[in-house]
Amino acid sequence: MKLWVTGASGLLGSALLAKAGGIGTNRKEADIADIESLRRFVKLHPDITHIVNCAAFSLVDLAETHKEEAYLANAKGPENLGRIASEIGSRLIHISTDYVFPGAGNKPLKEEDPTGPCNHYGKTKLEGEKLLLSAFPNACILRVSWLFGKGGKNFIARIMDLFKAQKEVRLTADQWGRPTFVPDLVQVILKMLDLSGLYQFANSGVTSKYEFGLALFNEARKMGFPLKAESILPVPGSTFPSSCKRPAYSAFDTSKIEKKLGVTPRHWQEALDEHAKATFI
Ligand SMILES: NC(=O)c1ccc[n+]([C@@H]2O[C@H](COP(=O)([O-])OP(=O)(O)OC[C@H]3O[C@@H](n4cnc5c(N)ncnc54)[C@H](OP(=O)(O)O)[C@@H]3O)[C@@H](O)[C@H]2O)c1
Repeated sequence: MKLWVTGASGLLGSALLAKAGGIGTNRKEADIADIESLRRFVKLHPDITHIVNCAAFSLVDLAETHKEEAYLANAKGPENLGRIASEIGSRLIHISTDYVFPGAGNKPLKEEDPTGPCNHYGKTKLEGEKLLLSAFPNACILRVSWLFGKGGKNFIARIMDLFKAQKEVRLTADQWGRPTFVPDLVQVILKMLDLSGLYQFANSGVTSKYEFGLALFNEARKMGFPLKAESILPVPGSTFPSSCKRPAYSAFDTSKIEKKLGVTPRHWQEALDEHAKATFI
């Protein structure tokens, strides 16, 4: 087996590559929006058997003002990789998102539930799923939500920056989802390398950004990590007018992948404890 991880300097891609080995590429080495760049790359590595696409335009707010760039990476990118996988006869896992859902309900979302993204990032990711499946029906699409782990521009890092800089930190209390610890996700991806079809994975437990941030704050304080923040306040997402619309409720139902792989995702709080110990001590 020879694995190719795209987006290898990102949060998920770097963790996957570190665990699994193989070849990793960033945008300069292989631009997923440019099929000729991908063809040049695979020509140099004819022994690739599995591709995991972790590359994306992942900045949700910025996607509203960089629409074309987001579309090229998130929609054309998976389609291009699907073509390449078909040309070289490899397997392909593409990472998608809970933001393909509108988020107006309050019941865990199954793979086949109606999509309907509420922002441009979600629209481009949904288009990516569709274009990929028409280019390469054998692909595996894995939707994930609220990634946290070491490094990258993930939401834990953003919240920690606020805790370090502000006495009073306001966090959104009306968006609900299931956080996903990157090392847990990496384990699951490695079990899925030969699958086709649509799956969803996240740690168990539905929470809000506020509750999750408060848990992180308590962990950091318990471990004596220096923080400026003294109070964490729950506020509605509309408090932050600069951010684009996000699904209010996008928690997955993960029973399909649990059955398929025989895995039980651990609770996000347990994963957060592990992350905190590795980060704050
Ligand atoms: N982070 C989350 O909370 C979250 C939630 C749900 C789903 N997801 C999905 O999970 C996947 C991994 O996310 P992540 O948080 O690891 O993202 P990330 O840290 O932003 O990494 C994405 C990587 O993709 C690369 N990239 C962007 N455009 C590219 C292009 N045209 N060609 C090749 N590489 C390109 C970026 O490299 P450059 O910097 O060089 O451009 C970046 O290193 C993505 O599909 C994302 O949509 C993430």
